[in-house]
Amino acid sequence: MHIYIEDIGKYQGKDVIIKGWLFNKRSSGKIRFILVRDGTGIIQSVIAKGEVKDELFKIVDKITQESSVILTGTVRKDDRAPGGYEIIAKDIKVIQMAEDYPITPKEHSIEFLLPFRHLWLRSKKQNAIMRIRHEIIKACRDFLDNQGFINADTPILTPAAVEGTTTLFQVDYYDQNAYLSQSGQLYNEATAAALGKVYCFGPTFRAEKSKTRRHLTEFWMLEPEVAYIELDGIMDLAEDMTVYFVERILEKRKKELKILERDISKLEKIKKPFPRITYKQAVEIIRKKDKQLKYGDDFGAPHETILSDSFDNPILVHHYPAGIKAFYMKRDPNDESLSLSVDMIGPEGSGELIGGGQREDDYKTLLKRLKENNLPEKSYEWYLDLRKFGTCPHGGFGLGLERTIGWICGVKHVRETIPFPRMLDRVYP
Ligand code: 4AD
Ligand code: MG
Repeated sequence: MHIYIEDIGKYQGKDVIIKGWLFNKRSSGKIRFILVRDGTGIIQSVIAKGEVKDELFKIVDKITQESSVILTGTVRKDDRAPGGYEIIAKDIKVIQMAEDYPITPKEHSIEFLLPFRHLWLRSKKQNAIMRIRHEIIKACRDFLDNQGFINADTPILTPAAVEGTTTLFQVDYYDQNAYLSQSGQLYNEATAAALGKVYCFGPTFRAEKSKTRRHLTEFWMLEPEVAYIELDGIMDLAEDMTVYFVERILEKRKKELKILERDISKLEKIKKPFPRITYKQAVEIIRKKDKQLKYGDDFGAPHETILSDSFDNPILVHHYPAGIKAFYMKRDPNDESLSLSVDMIGPEGSGELIGGGQREDDYKTLLKRLKENNLPEKSYEWYLDLRKFGTCPHGGFGLGLERTIGWICGVKHVRETIPFPRMLDRVYP
């Protein structure tokens, strides 16, 4: 019977079939050990000379790394084997013999690996990161679904900017210009007024001009949006969702965290409540270590790291100066220079994981903001309509998936947190 390696514990003493690829092999006298991977795990198989047909022994000597193989044998519990089980081989069928697989078991540089991303994904560590990615997505969706949110996805081809005009990717759309979406937020505001609580989840695009370990040009964002919510409620939602997915990862993905050698004590410390500090307080904390930063400046990566080093939990920084935030941010009625915004800065220097806030809900004020930002009113007519027909306080946020995965996995650069990273200097493979 064909089984997956992750289920092997259920088949002790039974004959099974594993369909996969040769991960590695070694020999010791008259015994050969092969490691076969099938995507769900890696299993060791033992082939002893004299106990199997000579022919099988010869095949084993010939199989190369990443050849596709079908292994038949008996499952045996063995505490010395990696994973606690091994297979006593009865038959091995080679589906295709791989020649000169470029990623040998030795260490390789990132520069070498990136052009082989399509193959690099087969490695143990990359496999673990992708499994954690899957689990974070599922956990966030479950969290929102359990609270009655409706997934209403937003378009990728759009007529207008959300997060400033400097990072837009323009595309020819028949006889007009369109842009790849920087965020689903504006459409989320429409679906929130239609459905109450919504989220979108999809790829977003930013023509980032800088090469940093936190920036991709194509990244995935999970964006909840709620009608009749204010800044405090938005912060509660960000905090609850974060605690939820961290708990889920600790519950379900310990094996993967171990492969990544992640210090899980750091994740176990993530507990409510998260510190909530104003932008002004954040500036005071940062200025104790870096006097260059002035009130009114946006935070750079080193500033975020100073902040995150001051706390175990993620930090919710709110009330940024309106001047460094997007046109749609609602202002604080008590101080027009401040926006009702919130960013969540992740622990251990993982950077800004979440950006969001309360939206401007007054028609005239929003129109004024569009003009101040030189944004074409025509492209935003539908967005202005939302303020004409039953406006209400509303807001939400966007969670950057890749940075979040980087934090959870303890992987410093976002290029390893997405199957095929797109960066300033990379669109291949
Ligand atoms: O802070 P941002 O720009 O917020 C928005 O786009 C809002 N419209 C979202 C909303 O309120 N619905 O982006 C949100 C998050 C950031 O906190 C960061 O984690 C991630 O998206 N992000 C990036 N991740 C990787 N590469 C990039 N170039 C990113 N730009 C933003
Ligand atoms: Mg932001």
